[in-house]
Amino acid sequence: MKPVNFGLVGLGGYAKVYHDILTELVENKTARLIAVAEWQPEKFNDPIDKLKRAGVKIFKDYDELLAVCEKELDIVALPVGIHLHVPFTIKALKRGIHVLCEKPVAVTIQDVDSLIQEREKSGKMVFIGFQEILSPSIRQIKERMIAGELGKIHTIKLKGGWPRPKSYYTRNAWAGKLRMGTNWVLDGPAHNAMAHYLNNMFYVASPLPSQSAVPISIQAELYRAWPIETYDTVCLKSKLNTGTDLFFFASHCSETEFHPEMSIIAEKATVIRKFENGATTIHYNDGRKENFDDGTANPRREVFVSAIKNLQGQDAHHCSLEIARSQTLCVNGMHESCPKIFEIPPSEIIDKEIPLAPNSTEVDSLKVIRGFDAMIHQAYYTEKLFSEMDIKWGRSTQLFNLKDYHHFPSTDFSIG
Ligand SMILES: NC(=O)c1ccc[n+]([C@@H]2O[C@H](COP(=O)([O-])OP(=O)(O)OC[C@H]3O[C@@H](n4cnc5c(N)ncnc54)[C@H](O)[C@@H]3O)[C@@H](O)[C@H]2O)c1
Repeated sequence: MKPVNFGLVGLGGYAKVYHDILTELVENKTARLIAVAEWQPEKFNDPIDKLKRAGVKIFKDYDELLAVCEKELDIVALPVGIHLHVPFTIKALKRGIHVLCEKPVAVTIQDVDSLIQEREKSGKMVFIGFQEILSPSIRQIKERMIAGELGKIHTIKLKGGWPRPKSYYTRNAWAGKLRMGTNWVLDGPAHNAMAHYLNNMFYVASPLPSQSAVPISIQAELYRAWPIETYDTVCLKSKLNTGTDLFFFASHCSETEFHPEMSIIAEKATVIRKFENGATTIHYNDGRKENFDDGTANPRREVFVSAIKNLQGQDAHHCSLEIARSQTLCVNGMHESCPKIFEIPPSEIIDKEIPLAPNSTEVDSLKVIRGFDAMIHQAYYTEKLFSEMDIKWGRSTQLFNLKDYHHFPSTDFSIG
């Protein structure tokens, strides 16, 4: 097979993962890296020297990369800030270039829908980097759903505590932001670090292949302990078009780190999937028990392999715009339900110093919500929002109807 010609935007942050995967795919002659755009080249002298020696064209500007290399490129890979996903993807599609773009697909639902239209007009493909849905464990759960082995899902829920230090919020200009100029960002655990796990739930809740269930109403509570524009702690419940109740509890201010854990309570079985290598147990109501995990799979690499296979004419499983749409719809509904982010009172926040890096004498810091781990575990087990529990900072919000919802924000209200 002819190698697929890639362009790449970015070399640092998550773009380093993309660069490393592409380097391996170039070595095994599956891909060729034609060009890279990095707007801070001074930070990447060594990799850029190496790339130049390998004949890769280097640009500072994405538009220039597209203009110069358009004819040579099959696909561009876009591991860039979330507010850039749609404008950058559309620029490539308009030049007849396929796109592999990072998650989330877009910030607003109207942007997802206009992107679907642009993709249709272009006749090109767009692959979204929600790599979790390519993991063997999620695929097996989805297969059981499609085959009717789990029956209808009554409840699907997830909890995750991933403490994030100050340096997480200062790593780039958009982290912790609701907006960048006139563009929405809506950064936060549901739209960034734990977006995969939200997307997984919509994906497996649908019994239809290559489709996600769609949220039809949502009630969310957004809180912040960090002095950021957006939220660092969220709980939400949502009704899906499959009749399923979905619950999502996530925070960057937990006392300890506990990885995302998903439970599915279905008509014929209960499923628990852990973050650790996708370790999954299915307890069937008839007494059978099934265990599986992700084995040696590398879903991040699989995103590339699947895109390449599709461009070479195979119909390989991938995360389409349609699959990823429900996660963006959910995040928009979340901010509609809770337009004002609630402040956690300072008396309930503990500031903790940690080393900037392992063995470093430089310090970073964490914000920890007092007693939070017990609260989030209880919320998850009892399927209650924080405002429905005995939590002094819990604040209730309105249920928001997502039927026929096509524009964020729905009214000219002030968010933040
Ligand atoms: N799939 C995953 O597991 C995963 C994990 C982490 C982050 N992400 C996603 O990766 C994306 C990037 O996140 P990040 O925090 O690394 O972002 P970032 O803004 O820090 O950018 C990454 C790199 O791209 C460069 N860059 C950014 N915009 C550019 C532009 N317009 N032109 C040229 N170079 C540019 C930056 O200098 C940096 O080197 C986000 O969409 C995020 O959601 C995905």
